[in-house]
Amino acid sequence: MSALLEVEGLLLRFGGVIAADHLSFAVASGELLGLIGPNGAGKTTVLRLIAGLLRPEAGRVRLGGVDVTGQPTHRRVRRGLGLTHQLVRPFHSLTVVENVMIAAGHRHTRNPIAALARVSRIAERRAAEAILVRVGLADSAARRPAALPLGQRKRLELARALALEPTVLLLDEPMAGLSSAEAAALGDTILALNTTGTTIVLVEHNLGEVMRLARRLLVLDTGRAIADGPPDTVMRDPAVQLAYVGTAAG
Ligand SMILES: Nc1ncnc2c1ncn2[C@@H]1O[C@H](COP(=O)(O)OP(=O)(O)O)[C@@H](O)[C@H]1O
Ligand SMILES: [Mg+2]
Repeated sequence: MSALLEVEGLLLRFGGVIAADHLSFAVASGELLGLIGPNGAGKTTVLRLIAGLLRPEAGRVRLGGVDVTGQPTHRRVRRGLGLTHQLVRPFHSLTVVENVMIAAGHRHTRNPIAALARVSRIAERRAAEAILVRVGLADSAARRPAALPLGQRKRLELARALALEPTVLLLDEPMAGLSSAEAAALGDTILALNTTGTTIVLVEHNLGEVMRLARRLLVLDTGRAIADGPPDTVMRDPAVQLAYVGTAAG
């Protein structure tokens, strides 16, 4: 069986900085992979390369066995890629549930027949409401994004990514800025998404949470994978401990 997501030999430099240094790894269907490493290791760059927001100088990205290296982000999204953050900002004039509906619209082709469009809007609202339940935001459906506390804005970001019905979800530091209780609650939501079948690549500085959630950790340092395996084994690896020395991330 081929992996759901594969990167092979990814190379990307910014001036003299190597952000991805011939990086290769694969993620199997159903996995929750924790992608960690000190600041500047290349974690965000790798997610952006996978999403098509950056183009590699060399190397390939495959989704479901299909080479998507030359494809724009929206084509990758149609192939099942979901990502938070960089894709689209929330519309502050719309409610929470409407924001999720708009995100879902990126997936659908527009139906020109008004009657069908109306049915489709009702269906989209129901689907959006179901997503809000999954991420624990049902009570905030009618609020505006700007009125939400940070923890709930993070959940809205997740909801909008889920509206794309991803098979592989890329999360870039979803717990940044959250209290430990909020981070743990978001962790439970992420775990539930994985348990119900979504493959997840989680970049996260909260090592306690990422070790609780992931069964496999991949550690990056200066664009290279320096360790890959079960969290306990990886965190005991001297190369990993050395990479974290003197950084705030540990
Ligand atoms: N757009 C950019 N222009 C120049 N350098 C960049 C850019 N994006 C990232 N970098 C550099 O690439 C390296 C990896 O960055 P990044 O992927 O953001 O790391 P991480 O997410 O692990 O903190 C860093 O040295 C960073 O400064
Ligand atoms: Mg980053």
